[in-house]
Amino acid sequence: MTCKKVVGIIGLGYVGLPLAYLAASKGYKVIGVDVDDKKINDFNNKLKMPKQLIHISKDNLNLEGCKNYDILKNADIIVVCVPTPTKGENEPDLSLIENVFDNLAPNLKKGVLISVESTIGPGMTKKYIINKLRESNNLQIDKDYRLSYCPERIDSGNKTLWIGNINRICGSTSKEGLDETIKFYRSIIDAKIIPMNSIEEAELVKVWENSFRNLNIAASNLLAKICDKYGLSVNMVIDGLRSKVEQFGMNYTYPGLGPGGHCIPEDIHYLISSVKEDCNMDMSFFEESANINDGMVYYALNKLKNKINQLNLESPKLLMLGISYKSNSDDLRCSKAMKLYDILKKEKYNVTYYDYVVDDRKESFEEDMKKHLDNIDVVILSCGHEKFLTYQFEKHKSIKLFFDCWNLLYKKYKYKSKFEYIGIGE
Ligand SMILES: NC(=O)c1ccc[n+]([C@@H]2O[C@H](COP(=O)([O-])OP(=O)(O)OC[C@H]3O[C@@H](n4cnc5c(N)ncnc54)[C@H](O)[C@@H]3O)[C@@H](O)[C@H]2O)c1
Repeated sequence: MTCKKVVGIIGLGYVGLPLAYLAASKGYKVIGVDVDDKKINDFNNKLKMPKQLIHISKDNLNLEGCKNYDILKNADIIVVCVPTPTKGENEPDLSLIENVFDNLAPNLKKGVLISVESTIGPGMTKKYIINKLRESNNLQIDKDYRLSYCPERIDSGNKTLWIGNINRICGSTSKEGLDETIKFYRSIIDAKIIPMNSIEEAELVKVWENSFRNLNIAASNLLAKICDKYGLSVNMVIDGLRSKVEQFGMNYTYPGLGPGGHCIPEDIHYLISSVKEDCNMDMSFFEESANINDGMVYYALNKLKNKINQLNLESPKLLMLGISYKSNSDDLRCSKAMKLYDILKKEKYNVTYYDYVVDDRKESFEEDMKKHLDNIDVVILSCGHEKFLTYQFEKHKSIKLFFDCWNLLYKKYKYKSKFEYIGIGE
C-alpha cells in the first residue's frame, strides 16, 4: 500500500469510525481524535473494524488515536464528525462544533483541508467556523486553511449501502478547496461525489433531504390517524397509493411511532432555525411536521390504553420487543420505542422489554423469546428487528393483545389470529 497524506478524523462514532477505517484501508495514515477514552482505546487496538472491510488485514491499517488535538498538527486533511444535537426547545446545539474548532485552531498545519461532515443548517459553517477561526486565531479562509462541507448519509442498519458506496454532495469556499475535497473522497469512496456551487448549497441539501423525509413520515402518520377514525386499513391505502408510485415515481413511507435517531427528528430543527433567522420566513409547515411525528408516541400510548380497557385486561403484563430506534440497528438515540417504554413505566404498567440486537445476546433467540413471553398478556412490537418478524407468536396462549407499532405483521395477524391485533392506522 502506498503511503499517502495524513488524515485526521475528529469524532469516532457512527460516522467517523467507519470513515477512519475506510481511509486507512486506502493507504492513508489516519489519526483519530475523540473525547471518549474507550473509543480511543478501541481505535488503537483496531477493535471495531467495519464488517465491509474484514477482508483487509489489520496490520496494513495505519491508525493512531488520541484525545489530544496536538496530534493533528501533521494532518493534511481533517474531517469533523462530532454530533450536532438539539437542546431546550429544539434549538440547534453547536457547542461541540465550537469546542472542536477552539481545540483545532492552534493545531492546524498551514494549507490544511478541513471537511465538515456533521449535519449543520444553511449558513452555519460560515457563522460558526470561518468567523470563529478568524476572530479567535486570525486564521484566514483559503489562505491558512481550506474548508468544505461534505455531509454523511450513512443509514444505520442498512445492509448494502454504507459509507464506502453512498453518493455524496460537497461544497467548498474555493475551486481549489472543492477540487481537493472531491479528490480525497473519490480516492476512498466508490460512488458519485457531486460538486455544489457553495458550502451553503451542500448544507441545504443535507438538511432538506432529512426534513423532507420527516414531512413524508408525518404525512403517513396523519393518514394513519385518519384511517383509524374511518376504520380503514392504512396499509391497504398505502399499497393502493403505491400502485401510482410504480408508474409515476412518487414516494410514500409507512406510519409508526415517528422517526427516531438523531438525524430525521433533529435535522429539521437545523433547517427551521437557519431559515427563520437568516430569511425571516414562516416555517410552520415544517414545525407542524415535527409536531405530528413527535406526538406519535402519545397517539400509540392512547390507542394501547383504550384497547387494554376495552378488553378488560386487569393489571396486564406487557412485553416490548425492540427498543432501538430502527430495525436491525442497536442505536438508541432518540428512540421512540424507548420513550414509549419510559412512559409506560412512569404510568406504572407492568412492562419489560427484550432487544437481542441492542443487548447482543449470546443465548438462543428462541430460548430468550420463550422466557420473555412467559405469561405475557400484551406484546408490543416496538422495533421490527428481523427475527421478530418471522417468530410464531400464536404459540403463546397467554397473549391477548398484539400491538404492532409499525404495522409490520398486519398481513399475518390482522385478519386471522388467536389474539387481538392492532397497529397504527390498523
Ligand atoms: N449516525 C448517522 O446515521 C448519521 C448520518 C448522517 C449524518 N450524521 C451526522 O454526523 C455527525 C456525527 O454523528 P454520529 O452518529 O457519528 O455521532 P456519534 O455520537 O456516534 O459520534 C460522535 C463522536 O464524537 C465524539 N465527540 C464529541 N465531542 C467531541 C469533541 N469535542 N472532540 C472530539 N470528539 C468528540 C463523541 O465522543 C463520539 O464518539 C452528526 O452531526 C450527525 O447528525 C449522522
